[in-house]
Amino acid sequence: MHISTITVIIGLSCLATSKSVPKATLQILDPIQLPTSTIASLGYNNTFLENLAARQNGDLLVTMLEDNSTLYYVESPGSGHTALTPIHHFSAASGLLGITETSEDTFLIAMHDFEKLITPIPGTGAIWEVRFTRKNSKEIKVRKVTDLPNAGMMNGITSVPARGSSGSGEQEEVAILVADSYNGQLIRVDSVTGYSEVVLDVPELHARPNATFPIGVNGVKIYNGHVYWSNFERSTMNRIAIDRNGYPLGSGTVSTIATIPEIQGIDDFVFDQAGNIWGMGDLDNNAFILFRGTDPHNEYSIYQSIAGGIGSLLLPGCTASTWGRGKNDKHILYVTTNGGMVSPVNGTIVEPAKVAAIDTSQFANHGV
Ligand SMILES: *[C@@H]1O[C@H](CO)[C@@H](O)[C@H](O)[C@H]1NC(C)=O
Ligand SMILES: *[C@@H]1O[C@H](CO)[C@@H](O)[C@H](O)[C@H]1NC(C)=O
Ligand SMILES: *[C@@H]1O[C@H](CO)[C@@H](O)[C@H](O)[C@H]1NC(C)=O
Ligand SMILES: *[C@@H]1O[C@H](CO)[C@@H](O)[C@H](O)[C@H]1NC(C)=O
Repeated sequence: MHISTITVIIGLSCLATSKSVPKATLQILDPIQLPTSTIASLGYNNTFLENLAARQNGDLLVTMLEDNSTLYYVESPGSGHTALTPIHHFSAASGLLGITETSEDTFLIAMHDFEKLITPIPGTGAIWEVRFTRKNSKEIKVRKVTDLPNAGMMNGITSVPARGSSGSGEQEEVAILVADSYNGQLIRVDSVTGYSEVVLDVPELHARPNATFPIGVNGVKIYNGHVYWSNFERSTMNRIAIDRNGYPLGSGTVSTIATIPEIQGIDDFVFDQAGNIWGMGDLDNNAFILFRGTDPHNEYSIYQSIAGGIGSLLLPGCTASTWGRGKNDKHILYVTTNGGMVSPVNGTIVEPAKVAAIDTSQFANHGV
């Protein structure tokens, strides 16, 4: 599938709806399988890798939610000789969630103490910082940024882009936005002082009231002046404009940019250079793309599953992804999984959590 073909499809769908008020519709393309391989796996079943981020030297940091709060390191993920190596264990919590780089080689991580799987002990949320002391060293300094005792269960977190307008020179991030899946809120945390405040609480962030699996907002990313989020339980993608400090501009202006009934739960996601969204269908074991088109009323109108799927062990329980940042892997989408421990493949099959690599080189505008 080439980008030019997509443009043709978007053109046709514009013609078809040109007489009526445009409404978000979703076209489903046939699934494809991009080349996908496991680059490192944990040795035990019932392990859950929740999220990951790439360092500027290309190495990966991987957070574990089950069975403990270990931060793992993957050196040179594109090398073909890779392993998940523990780099730090957080004794103040029992499970790690979202991770984001706030300035070069400084990462923030969300965590809770868990009573059982995806059931945090109330009041135990915290954000910690991991800072590498030198560029090519694995030596880190760790500090708590803040407790978030009111958070229900944090999930994805993302950095508010630096405010510098020149586009060059030293970039300094000052804040993060945190998804609270159980309270249905976005929390803004000052990454230096730790000051926190709820900045958005709208139905699009919540699971439906009678949901059996009450995980609302899951992944959160900032792109092009908006904060975007996935709602796991509603299978939707949503956005709202933000100011340059990361504050949403009026809660009446949320839009649901895509509803994806084809999959049962949208976990974390990333953007590529062209603004396409690469998401994780956690309960359906698949990675997908929402292609960005040119119709402003229906910008994300085409869905395609691009790796894995129900019944497949390529990406069982895929949770999050990040683009390669090494010399030769910018076209690789690295993915974390929980091995299917929440929703076993075909009802019974699980495997150890892993990091997989999807080769996206057949698409034109991949990478960051
Ligand atoms: C954390 O879990 C992993 C995988 O089961 C295990 O290898 C490791 O020893 C555990 N670490 C701690 C500190 O409990
Ligand atoms: C959940 O609530 C919605 C909206 O109120 C309703 O349509 C649906 O039937 C309810 N589902 C269950 C399982 O109660
Ligand atoms: C799951 O079931 C389908 C249909 O029977 C089968 O094709 C597939 O191989 C199974 N998956 C695994 C991992 O065994
Ligand atoms: C994980 O569980 C599966 C069954 O779902 C089993 O076949 C496999 O041997 C287990 N793997 C390990 C490493 O224990």
